[in-house]
Amino acid sequence: MKHLLIVYHTQTDNTGKLARAAREGARSDLVGAVEVRFLKAARAAAEDLLWADGLLLATPENFGYMSGAMKDFLDRTFYQVEGKILPLPYTVLISAGNDGSGALRSIRRIAGGYPFTEVQEPLVAQGEITQSHLDRAEELGATLAAGLEAGVF
Ligand SMILES: Cc1cc2nc3c(=O)[nH]c(=O)nc-3n(C[C@H](O)[C@H](O)[C@H](O)COP(=O)(O)O)c2cc1C
Repeated sequence: MKHLLIVYHTQTDNTGKLARAAREGARSDLVGAVEVRFLKAARAAAEDLLWADGLLLATPENFGYMSGAMKDFLDRTFYQVEGKILPLPYTVLISAGNDGSGALRSIRRIAGGYPFTEVQEPLVAQGEITQSHLDRAEELGATLAAGLEAGVF
């Protein structure tokens, strides 16, 4: 069974809503057997990355960057997983007041070092979370999980 790790951080639950929608998508009946581990960034650890076949990172944009908690997760785990993970297929969910480009750029830059390989277009939800954002997050989760299950990534 393939393993999908969802790591998220949220303060006012905007990113939380997106991350939960992605989890619903990954667990939907359309997807085969994919086990999902859903963790706040502060609780996620290197062992979770070593367990994962695919990764979804969900963060708000804070001060033009990923959230501090998400950065801390990546900082804490890097040496422990270095050389032990294949390029891990990943994608990104961002909630931001503006275009989220600073958060996305910061994640992409670090992902190159892990290494994680971006396999889907990220979703940046600008402003209030709408039903359309939730639908797209659900679809993103379903597509990532289905791709893992099918061995496409
Ligand atoms: C400390 C802080 C810094 C922020 N910096 C940015 C920013 O640089 N760019 C932006 O578009 N939004 C920024 N925002 C807005 C958040 O990205 C936005 O409200 C987001 O939806 C919050 O997600 P959350 O509810 O998951 O915490 C900031 C919010 C906070 C609290």
